[in-house]
Amino acid sequence: MATLGLIGSGSIGGTLARLAVDAGLDVVLSNSRGPETLADLVSGLGPRARAATPAEAAAAGDWVVVTIPVKAVGQVPVAPLTGKTVIDTGNYYPQRDGEIAELKDGGSTDSQLLQQHLPESHVVKAFNNIFFRHLAVLARPKGSPDRTALPVAGDDPAAVAHAAELLDLLGYDALAYGTLADSWRSQPGTPVYGPPYGGGAADFAHAEATPASADTIRALLDAATR
Ligand SMILES: NC(=O)c1ccc[n+]([C@@H]2O[C@H](COP(=O)([O-])OP(=O)(O)OC[C@H]3O[C@@H](n4cnc5c(N)ncnc54)[C@H](OP(=O)(O)O)[C@@H]3O)[C@@H](O)[C@H]2O)c1
Repeated sequence: MATLGLIGSGSIGGTLARLAVDAGLDVVLSNSRGPETLADLVSGLGPRARAATPAEAAAAGDWVVVTIPVKAVGQVPVAPLTGKTVIDTGNYYPQRDGEIAELKDGGSTDSQLLQQHLPESHVVKAFNNIFFRHLAVLARPKGSPDRTALPVAGDDPAAVAHAAELLDLLGYDALAYGTLADSWRSQPGTPVYGPPYGGGAADFAHAEATPASADTIRALLDAATR
């Protein structure tokens, strides 16, 4: 059975863990404070889930999702991620993450910073533009007419395809839209960030989840401006 490794087990990490367990994957969760602090979450997820250190979760995963504040990406373990598809859910929020010059001036994307930190891994941006409560409830079986599409971006086409396999297992279509340099198109403040999965509401975090098709997501990615 395939395994999903999670570095970060908060709102998004915990939601992905639930979707993965429901899809029949094994899940290894980790956070910054230690596996013992994840006991309740793991117990709720059932026997397919366990808690470990970030290095152990990195080593165990067929896919590894990094889902932590952007300011912490320098602490992601490097060696156990060699050769792996690493999915990055990060969004840069200066008020949370502090001033990061390369991101503030638009010269780089946060996924490019993670890729620089993990030169032997294949970083793919995904799950960053959907509110975690919407992510939890919009998963649908393959072929469902109301299946939702999520944007994915990466520099390595094979890794993008590999990440799309994970999305498919978890209940989502993947819409590939470019490289990590292009991933600004799905960052906070862009049209595809948040509202399309909340009925178009600007206050999407308080809106009911609504499916979004690949055509809708493609149009919103194309509409992004710097
Ligand atoms: N919330 C959303 O709806 C949403 C949607 C899309 C994307 N995102 C983005 O996805 C990322 C995660 O968001 P979130 O809302 O899930 O955050 P969160 O609920 O605050 O959870 C963050 C997780 O990261 C862990 N963590 C922090 N530093 C770490 C480190 N050095 N090593 C390992 N784990 C570490 C935390 O563990 P400890 O608690 O032990 O420190 C916690 O489990 C952020 O970049 C966010 O902007 C969020």
